[in-house]
Amino acid sequence: MHSRWPRLAGLAYGGEYYPEQWPAEVWEQDVALMREAGVTLVSVGIFAWGMLEPRPGQYEFGWLDRVLGLLHDAGIAVDLGTPTAAPPPWFLRLHPQSRPVTRDGRALGGGSRQAYCPSSPAYAEAASGITRQLAIRYGRHPAVVLWHVNNEYGAPLGECYCEVSASAFRDWLRARYDDLETLNERWGTAFWSQRYAEWEEIDAPRASTSVVNPGQRLDFARFSSDALLACFTRERDILRAASPDVPVTTNFMANNCKNVDYWRWASEVDVISNDNYLIAERADSYLDLAMSADLTRSLADGGPWLLMEHSTSAVSWQPRNVAKRPGEMRRNSLAHVARGADGVLFFQWRAGRFGAEKHHSAMLPQAGTDTRVWREVVALGRELAGLAGMRGSRVEPDIAMVWDWESWWAQELEWRPSVDLGYLERVRAWYEASWRAGLTVDFAHPEADLSRYRLVVAPSLYLTTPEAAENLRGYVEDGGTLLVGCFSGIVDAWDRVHPGSYPGGLREVLGVTVEEWLPLRAGERSGLAWEAGLGWEAADAGLGWADGWTEAVRLAGAKAVARYADGPAAGGPAVTRHELGHGQAWYVSARTDADATAALLAAACESAGLAAVDTGISPTTGTSTGAAGRPAGGGWPRDLEMVRRTDGERRFITLINHGQESADVMIGDRLVRVPGGDATIIQTGSLGQLEQQGDEVGRAVHRDHVVAVHFPVPPVLAGLRVVGRRPERGRAPAAGRPGLPGGLDVRPAERVLRQRPLQPDRLGEAADRVRRAAGGGPVGRGGVVHRPLQRLHQPGRPGPDGTGPVPGAGQVVQRLAVGGHERVQVDQVRHPVGDVLEGAGHDHAAIGEAEQHDVGQVLVEDRVHHVEHVGGQVDLRRRQVRALPDAGQGRSEHLMPRLAQRPADQTESPGAAPRPVHQNNCRHGADAKPAPPLPQCAPAPISAGPAMRSDRG
Ligand code: GLA
Repeated sequence: MHSRWPRLAGLAYGGEYYPEQWPAEVWEQDVALMREAGVTLVSVGIFAWGMLEPRPGQYEFGWLDRVLGLLHDAGIAVDLGTPTAAPPPWFLRLHPQSRPVTRDGRALGGGSRQAYCPSSPAYAEAASGITRQLAIRYGRHPAVVLWHVNNEYGAPLGECYCEVSASAFRDWLRARYDDLETLNERWGTAFWSQRYAEWEEIDAPRASTSVVNPGQRLDFARFSSDALLACFTRERDILRAASPDVPVTTNFMANNCKNVDYWRWASEVDVISNDNYLIAERADSYLDLAMSADLTRSLADGGPWLLMEHSTSAVSWQPRNVAKRPGEMRRNSLAHVARGADGVLFFQWRAGRFGAEKHHSAMLPQAGTDTRVWREVVALGRELAGLAGMRGSRVEPDIAMVWDWESWWAQELEWRPSVDLGYLERVRAWYEASWRAGLTVDFAHPEADLSRYRLVVAPSLYLTTPEAAENLRGYVEDGGTLLVGCFSGIVDAWDRVHPGSYPGGLREVLGVTVEEWLPLRAGERSGLAWEAGLGWEAADAGLGWADGWTEAVRLAGAKAVARYADGPAAGGPAVTRHELGHGQAWYVSARTDADATAALLAAACESAGLAAVDTGISPTTGTSTGAAGRPAGGGWPRDLEMVRRTDGERRFITLINHGQESADVMIGDRLVRVPGGDATIIQTGSLGQLEQQGDEVGRAVHRDHVVAVHFPVPPVLAGLRVVGRRPERGRAPAAGRPGLPGGLDVRPAERVLRQRPLQPDRLGEAADRVRRAAGGGPVGRGGVVHRPLQRLHQPGRPGPDGTGPVPGAGQVVQRLAVGGHERVQVDQVRHPVGDVLEGAGHDHAAIGEAEQHDVGQVLVEDRVHHVEHVGGQVDLRRRQVRALPDAGQGRSEHLMPRLAQRPADQTESPGAAPRPVHQNNCRHGADAKPAPPLPQCAPAPISAGPAMRSDRG
């Protein structure tokens, strides 16, 4: 289950890295540039099978050893791919029968990727072989934090129709159905003489003279998704056996992959990851992005997920590969983060010089670093580092939308009543209305527990199982509000019409029957009018239009909310509302246009009581108080994306303006203006505001010190400088608002920043860990390293220049002689100073009290180093201050860095002092230790906090 998160601090940032396409001389430059861009995670090896196993059973890992070493030494973590999406030429030569076959019988050749039959035993053996080799060799490599199995299962080929697949399909059917009679009945084989007397008569549903049995098609789609899933779990299990501590993912394509039922896959991966590419022709493709992100988060059950791929600019596979405009990539990235992504990665790190994707954009473009894209990539890296505190927080959804791959498959088989009704098209229409109302959508399987949502929209549920129907009915009876879109509740899991009149599966809950579908001709539409006297109708406007699809609806318990004003269903109910139990169910029988969809959604929200939910966020005009449920035209800025994440104490409100004009909203009693094309993240709940004074933007009090915070480094990298002692409790701090009893100075500032206090003193605890590990020999992950480390001096003894030993590998990524001391840049450098300190030492670390110009001290073996924060980097001044008496002497191995259980976001909470610190350690879940509370916190006189604008003013 997706509960294990890779050992990564903050939000991951990076992309897919293909060193195998470049000479080795380029690798060091790559790594240096990655550091410049703030990259923390790269995916490696995804298509490298031919370079790792050039001949069957003959392996070449030397180059990958070097690459992983370089990355690790630079503090960049690796998402290591199994290369099984691209079998090398020898595979197809040895196993030509493993070539995939299309529905119309074409066996596909090599020279590309994904050219294998998922059910092929030869492929299973070869893929398992290379996976096992990788798992054994790199399963405990310190750089590897995540396994990336294969690539985009289901694309471009989801179904294989070779003889091996047909035979596997028969096995799958035998396991699913007790006997042939059941299968005959489910598939409705009495139609067109398709009755099966023997299992061997069943074939894959190949292209035929006319439409092929829809039950057979649906089962083949299920089988194909399962066959791919079996490919994944086979590799996953090999990886887990040899590399139990490293979580496993495979990259999904959420709403863009029809071939794979991700609801069935979601529980099989440790980490949900997703790829998302904009359709460049669409000016509003940010809506599709949001939908993809929301669906991905829902697959992760609301937990964190990783954006595995998107593009810095143009892709190379669309008819017109339109470049992203300045700022667009930033908006895209922040939108994913807003919707729950805890990492932002790209395809690809460096633009390739050859191959099919050489014209695709990259983090490092063909034109190099003196480019807009590169500058935006670097700025984004910095900005995401500043958002580390969002990691692990969860999105606050407003409503749920039902999503079902099986219904999608079924609806889009041949011979449907109108080509104008599509699954995605209807979901997108209702999703757009929600987005434009500022509502955040969770997606849910039709049989999932929906009780936490006030409103559930089922835009398109043509295939409705009895279990789903029962679930939806129970949800309404228990008090929920359900809105069902047209052409829903029609068939069962084998495309058999539910008995009785439409919508058989949902008749009871909706309180209507549909006598006949009345699709319209191309371009035709019917007017829709609110039913008089219900209070929904606007004074002078109709509701909108039915576009392409209407139905002859009869009331069977429900009441009409709107009627068809004209067209074939004129006078009949178009929209109905049925009170059932403690709840209500709406039915929208028309394919509504955008205005009608928005108005109906708003009405349903209001009816569900969502308008009364005060999120503290509201439009500057209109009548609603909450983000949710404002009536149509209630004033939410049309192009303003708004999503809330919370960690239970703080709330992060992302506002992204996709329009040209400024957009205003109220957060509490504060007006927030987002300029056109811009984005901002507002943090509320526990944030001090700091005042700018020259390069000093404010002062805060932490422990005994008054700390000056300065700019222009990104906020969380803001330098912290101790400027004085904190006065006695209850007296005014040396700097800051008089009268505040310690804690933060919370004066409003023009430029407001998060204050990240120093780590608490954990010297004793860390020293214990050092002692334990030093005496205990190899202790596995989190204990002692598994490979020799770069070492400058003998452990435990001062170096020739009087300096002490250096931190262990994985921590130090760059050394520079600066003045009289060595600058040691550590990994996690883009994280708050407090984090960096702990990252610097990991298990060695002990952070002491700050002294003048120091932000802390790090214990490295037996030496205490002073740490200074200079220009966005951390200096370890190799000054021996004192030795810890019984730290290990003469150890032959360095400690392995474990991302410590560290208190991260020690932002202080207004009105609640002291408060527990939000946990932010390397993993989520039960093993996360809460950090100790901060000693003092100041009340902040704000209900809506300052903007966390992390890269620009
Ligand atoms: C997909 C693939 C990548 C690459 C990109 C290009 O997402 O996973 O390998 O082909 O598309 O956009």
